[in-house]
Amino acid sequence: MDKLLIRGGKRLAGDIVIAGAKNAALPILCAGLLTADTLLLANVPRLQDVATMQKLLGQMGLSIDEQGDRLALCGRDVARLEAPYEMVKTMRASILVLGPLLARFGEAKVSLPGGCAIGSRPVDQHIRGLQAMGAEIRIEGGYIYAKAKKLKGARIVTDMITVTGTENLLMAATLADGETVLDNAAREPEVTDLAHLLVAMGAKIDGIGSDRLVVQGVPALHGAQHSVIADRIETGTFICAAAAAGGDLVLKNTRANLLDAVVDKLRESGAVITAGDDWIRVQMSGRPRPVSFRTTEYPGFPTDMQAQVMALDCLADGTSRVTETIFENRYMHVQELNRLGAGIEIDGHTAIVHGVPRLVGAPVMATDLRASASLVIAGLAAEGETLIDRIYHLDRGYDRMEAKLSAVGADIQRIK
Ligand code: EPU
Repeated sequence: MDKLLIRGGKRLAGDIVIAGAKNAALPILCAGLLTADTLLLANVPRLQDVATMQKLLGQMGLSIDEQGDRLALCGRDVARLEAPYEMVKTMRASILVLGPLLARFGEAKVSLPGGCAIGSRPVDQHIRGLQAMGAEIRIEGGYIYAKAKKLKGARIVTDMITVTGTENLLMAATLADGETVLDNAAREPEVTDLAHLLVAMGAKIDGIGSDRLVVQGVPALHGAQHSVIADRIETGTFICAAAAAGGDLVLKNTRANLLDAVVDKLRESGAVITAGDDWIRVQMSGRPRPVSFRTTEYPGFPTDMQAQVMALDCLADGTSRVTETIFENRYMHVQELNRLGAGIEIDGHTAIVHGVPRLVGAPVMATDLRASASLVIAGLAAEGETLIDRIYHLDRGYDRMEAKLSAVGADIQRIK
């Protein structure tokens, strides 16, 4: 199993090109199931979750032609309407095939995702929404069996804001009979990016970017071209790395207005952040100030940045409070950060971070994707050597993170 060895204390300086967003690319690949025509996608990130999704869709009969960050998908020969447990257990986002399969083919068999390191993460809202659109759904042997001759438009109010739930129902609604209203819809930029692709494919969607999506179903969708938006979480992760280790980084192919809540917090911590249309510059010297925050849905502070900003808070000159409201168990990084000398206590859904003047390298274990990123950030700032085990979690969601960091001066290497 690969590990990362980091010798901390090096300033970061230079340019990093940000990849396309993982959480936009995954639903967008599934949109390839909605049409028999070809989708031409650009800026697709090269990461393990995308490879897993390509494998799953390939097994279903979707043809995928890959050239660097460009993919051509063709859904003409899709025949196997199933997402098996072996795939879904490695990647929960596999649930995103359910809506498209049901909408275009009238049936689907998708494994129920199992447990997850960051919380229980049920998919009841996906199922309830599809039932409201007329699908017959039964759960048997760990699988969701869904059938509907033709989905029908419906008004759906989800109990909570769900990102992949909104995406699944939005894709299903594009081919349903009549009008579907999705209220309490997720407004994350990745949902908006998917909606723009669907419109390019001929879908009729109003309210894009709002919490009320109104979809007029059409009989069929056609091919389209689309470039995936920048990964705001990769962007935020590198901003935190520069703020923790000190330095002067320019992040390219990304936009500050995808992550205003994070940029505001980083400025509060003392980072000097300037931005243009497609770049962000972050400069930091000295010790960060503590920043307190609560995670919420977009446009609030993203749960996917909680661990990384907490790593920065570990080094702050004072105490901060971090409250996680989206997932019930997203503090697996806390014990590992404490192994590096951080002073974090957990009180229910809140972490109280007592900043320390320095962290000291140690062997640590990655537990989930964003937890791994927080350990990299802490390791870059810590004195001495940090050895991070189980970095397959990191590879799921970051495109060659160690290569990007070593190119800007970090002492980081992958150990096979
Ligand atoms: N929820 C339910 N029932 C449902 C759906 C969601 O109870 O049917 C609950 C969840 O358990 C959670 C909350 O609603 O407590 C929000 O979950 P959501 O459905 O929005 O999360 P998701 O769609 O499974 C996506 C991202 C996550 C990100 C969350 C929150 C993708 C592929 N994944 O997950 O990304 O944390 O939204 O923004 O888009 C990551 O990239 O590291 C990651 C975990």
